[in-house]
Amino acid sequence: MPRTIDWVDGRIVLVDQTALPELRVVEIDTADGLVDAIRRLVVRGAPALGAAGALGVALAARSVAGAELAAVAARLAAARPTAANLAVGVRRAMAAAGDGPEAVLAAALDVLEEDVAACRAIGARGAALLAELCGPAPLRLHTHCNAGALACVEWGTALGVVRSLHEAGRVAHVVADETRPLLQGSRITAVELAEMGVPFRLVVDGAGASIIARGLVDAVVVGADRVAANGDVANKIGTYPLALAAARAGIPFVVAAPESTLDPDTADGAAIEIEERAAEEVLVVGGAKVAPEGSAAWNPAFDVTPADLVTAVVTEERVWRPGG
Ligand code: MRU
Repeated sequence: MPRTIDWVDGRIVLVDQTALPELRVVEIDTADGLVDAIRRLVVRGAPALGAAGALGVALAARSVAGAELAAVAARLAAARPTAANLAVGVRRAMAAAGDGPEAVLAAALDVLEEDVAACRAIGARGAALLAELCGPAPLRLHTHCNAGALACVEWGTALGVVRSLHEAGRVAHVVADETRPLLQGSRITAVELAEMGVPFRLVVDGAGASIIARGLVDAVVVGADRVAANGDVANKIGTYPLALAAARAGIPFVVAAPESTLDPDTADGAAIEIEERAAEEVLVVGGAKVAPEGSAAWNPAFDVTPADLVTAVVTEERVWRPGG
């Protein structure tokens, strides 16, 4: 698998996440092309969006400057609202705008390299935490959506923890929710787990809580799109029920995310903007309409898990226990 997002010969090169499990690579050579790719989830996952935002500014800085560049940066940052990293990446690159396009590119490439290093540190710290919380036996882990290498630049956050544990021979198996409506679990997480050689089973989202209640997993580990100042966590819709079930079952619910996902300016989960996506994503499955003509659908892309259900947020710098 190539890098999820990279800069090659003056273009942004992306693994097309709408095509997975088929591997297709797309090249983006305009910032507006990137805005469209972000909206369509060609590139997705909070850390990958941070890298995309930064590289988008670098791309634009080759042809425009000043107010025009600022306008492009604003369009990029607004392409999706929930993941904190997108605006952070845009801001990081824009901070170098006064020093010219090469400086902007260097700042953007730093965002990518820092993400790779952060993910590796999160993986190691998260693996150590789970060993401490769950004991030495190989773990049965549950994850939701895709918080792997394909949601980052490389390695991954929640799947980075799985990767680190697996390298130490400490993963029994992973339960991965399929993640309706866009199936990031079945189409993307399954690719990564198979590539790692980790035994896994996909389950429908509705089965997640019950599998936890039946004592079939030892810990839940997920990524995050934005963590508010009080520790409330926005992540893919369907995460919250897993946290409720984990609390009820008395097993750890661990969030793995880089510091760039932590947003001290957002007081709590109620202040996090939840992206609403097109009803068609719910009404059409595999290209076929599944609901009667005229049906309405509601498609919030994320939910918020309250801090008191979060055992720990693991970042590249620390283990934070917002629930106390
Ligand atoms: O809509 P998506 O696919 O961008 O949602 C992604 C998630 O919810 C991930 O869990 C989150 O961004 C963390 S990725 C390391």
